[in-house]
Amino acid sequence: MLRRVLWVIVVLVVLAVAGVLAWYFAVYKKNHDNGGNDGGSKGGSNADVGDGTAGQGNTIVSPNGTVIPNDPHMLKRVFYGMAYVPLNAQLPDCYNTQQTVDNELLLLVQATKRVRLYGADCNALRFTIDAIQRLKLDLQVVVGIWIDKDAATYTRQTEEFYAVVAKYGWTNIIGVSVGNEVMFDQVEPLSNLMAQITTVKNKVVQLGHPEIPVFTSDLEGANRPPLTNQEDLAGVNLHPSFSGVPVETAASWFWTYLNNTVTPTVQQGNVKPIPLWITEVGWPSFPATGNTNASIPSIPNLQKFVDTWLCDANAMNLPYYFFEFFDAPWKI
Ligand SMILES: *[C@@H]1O[C@H](CO)[C@@H](O)[C@H](O)[C@H]1NC(C)=O
Ligand SMILES: *[C@@H]1O[C@H](CO)[C@@H](O)[C@H](O)[C@H]1NC(C)=O
Ligand SMILES: *[C@@H]1O[C@H](CO)[C@@H](O)[C@H](O)[C@H]1NC(C)=O
Repeated sequence: MLRRVLWVIVVLVVLAVAGVLAWYFAVYKKNHDNGGNDGGSKGGSNADVGDGTAGQGNTIVSPNGTVIPNDPHMLKRVFYGMAYVPLNAQLPDCYNTQQTVDNELLLLVQATKRVRLYGADCNALRFTIDAIQRLKLDLQVVVGIWIDKDAATYTRQTEEFYAVVAKYGWTNIIGVSVGNEVMFDQVEPLSNLMAQITTVKNKVVQLGHPEIPVFTSDLEGANRPPLTNQEDLAGVNLHPSFSGVPVETAASWFWTYLNNTVTPTVQQGNVKPIPLWITEVGWPSFPATGNTNASIPSIPNLQKFVDTWLCDANAMNLPYYFFEFFDAPWKI
């Protein structure tokens, strides 16, 4: 049963992300320093979302104009969270519209209750929150403040974040990730990132929401003191496909590595213990030549990883954001 459910998700979701996974592993990890809005619950039982409350029929119009099925029984909300960048939402050309974001979220909410954004440019945050409130979507948001080498990007994104919460309130927000892989990409000195996290945290507290975690998302190597002392939690992007192990052992590799390496790295020397969120996890689908030793991208392997990893992750209540929901051909 679960297997069938997962296959359905793979057909409707994972196939749709093939391009971005391919792009991510083939291109992004090697040479990305472009700016803009760049860019990973359990509860398979109560899947009846998209049951018409959003005013949708049996079909919806996909962002490229294609009409696709909107059958509430085809997708199950088995993912804890999803990483999401709205289609075509990248400066200087923001081709995403409120309508395209509406359509994407109407699909996404059928697979998860939580969405992680990467930035606020191109109205990515504003359109997301607006869609959630207007369409009454049961979806919570991890805000992303994109950081690149241009300090204006950080300033613009934080101001947009504060403007959005001033207008829409905080009810849909469950966290704020200040930067994504800023240390891994050597975007700026650690001291800058820590100051930015502290500034955002102070502002969030000042605005009355000390309970909202503020943190950054990076590889586990970066998530250690003193950085972790500035964070409410550690956001770790953990991709087993960089381990070099075959997909057959990727899930067990993940759990062992999480226990034996990631968790000790994050916690060691912290003033206080902090929670750990997996802010990206997944498996690449393409191209096969984009492998790391025996970690080979393919759609069957992606399916295998989902089959062998997801149920355990949900059973452990691991907070994770699957990378990622939609194809993003505009990133290539
Ligand atoms: C348009 O999008 C749908 C769903 O996202 C996809 O199945 C279809 O192949 C796309 N069509 C084109 C021409 O890109
Ligand atoms: C991949 O294989 C090469 C050659 O054996 C080795 O040096 C490297 O460490 C491996 N990489 C990973 C991530 O396993
Ligand atoms: C990891 O730690 C958890 C909690 O301590 C434990 O339940 C689990 O069996 C461990 N898994 C591995 C693979 O070590």
